[in-house]
Amino acid sequence: MKRVAIITSSDAGYAGEREDKSGPAIKEIAEKEGYQVVSMDILPDDRDMLARRMAQIADENLAELILTTGGTGFSVRDVMPEATEDVIERRVPGIPEAIRAYSMTITKRAMLSRATAGIRRQTLIINLPGSPKAVRESLEYIISALGHGIEILT
Ligand code: MTE
Repeated sequence: MKRVAIITSSDAGYAGEREDKSGPAIKEIAEKEGYQVVSMDILPDDRDMLARRMAQIADENLAELILTTGGTGFSVRDVMPEATEDVIERRVPGIPEAIRAYSMTITKRAMLSRATAGIRRQTLIINLPGSPKAVRESLEYIISALGHGIEILT
């Protein structure tokens, strides 16, 4: 089974002041790859709330994959990598390395993404950037490689 949980980190999205276009972009790409989307959360840029939700999904075995969007930049409110590092047990540096290496062929600003990835129990957690464009570019590049890792994990 390939289940994915999507988490958007956005103060404006959480407040209902901005439509989340990145979460739906992830959903579309993941479903095309055969994943079942089990949840889509929009949370504020709050380290504890983000960490608690990621831990809950992993600990209750709700999904094999968590894809996050947003909160990976330089703003003081961008805390998704820190929240992710709070909950992962093992790091998977190759995934953000691959995303940045590929993305830098599109824009040098890809080096500004602080995104990380790692494993908690039987769940792989991957940070994607915030914009729908960056989400598409990043996820379309990596998604075909993820299934093999998830098979080994579960
Ligand atoms: N990656 C891709 N593929 N395409 C992009 O346009 N934008 C970058 C980067 N990664 C971008 C990208 C920019 S401008 C920033 S600031 C960082 O992702 C962090 O984005 P975030 O703060 O929205 O998470």
